[in-house]
Amino acid sequence: MLNLTADELLTTTRSVRKRLDFDKAVDRTVIQECLEIAFQAPNGSNMNTWKWLIVDDPALIARISELYNQGTEDFIATMGDAVGENYIGASVPGFSGINESVDYLRQNMHRVPAILFPLMSGRVENSGVFWQASSYGSILQATWSFFLALRERGMGSAWTTAHLWREQEVAELLGIPFDQYTQVGLFPIAHTVGHDFKPAYRKAFDEVASWNRFQ
Ligand SMILES: Cc1cc2nc3c(=O)[nH]c(=O)nc-3n(C[C@H](O)[C@H](O)[C@H](O)COP(=O)(O)O)c2cc1C
Repeated sequence: MLNLTADELLTTTRSVRKRLDFDKAVDRTVIQECLEIAFQAPNGSNMNTWKWLIVDDPALIARISELYNQGTEDFIATMGDAVGENYIGASVPGFSGINESVDYLRQNMHRVPAILFPLMSGRVENSGVFWQASSYGSILQATWSFFLALRERGMGSAWTTAHLWREQEVAELLGIPFDQYTQVGLFPIAHTVGHDFKPAYRKAFDEVASWNRFQ
């Protein structure tokens, strides 16, 4: 355990890509422990309708990695001219570093020791805002708690959604009933190389927050 303060944990839990340790095995019992902590997050009516699928079979991870890469290509193809320096996110400080890091994870996804798929019950494609918010709100908080629990144990993950362009293929591969469960992301799990992560760039309070009236 790193024994970080609560504020250190909350401000230094990063999307880790380049510093995932692909050569160190992860212990199933530690993943279970992190998930059991995560399950304490709120969920609508405390229904616990979520499912959590952990993959640590290297052959499955290799195939998932291909689908992750194909999903990323699908996403890039939707962006037309808005790639590279034309991409809207290119205005963010550190963009080239993020880009390089995203590429690195793409090239190495097949090497991660384990991958987590949080699954929420039902499909939201045709739901209204209430059901969408309630569905995602009932699983994203637990997912982030999982990241925090990993970090405290010297491990890390990267929040990714690119594979969702190939969600159905991943569902078929892993036996997930596609019409009954929605995948919310794909989360590689590994020990991290070092533990000295730092707060990252975010827009300042005054740019994004206001009191009493929208600005
Ligand atoms: C909803 C969401 C989707 C994301 N999808 C991807 C992804 O598909 N691939 C990837 O490498 N990173 C992905 N990221 C990670 C972000 O790029 C990352 O959080 C950002 O670079 C900031 O890093 P930081 O959170 O460590 O400060 C995603 C993050 C979020 C919140």
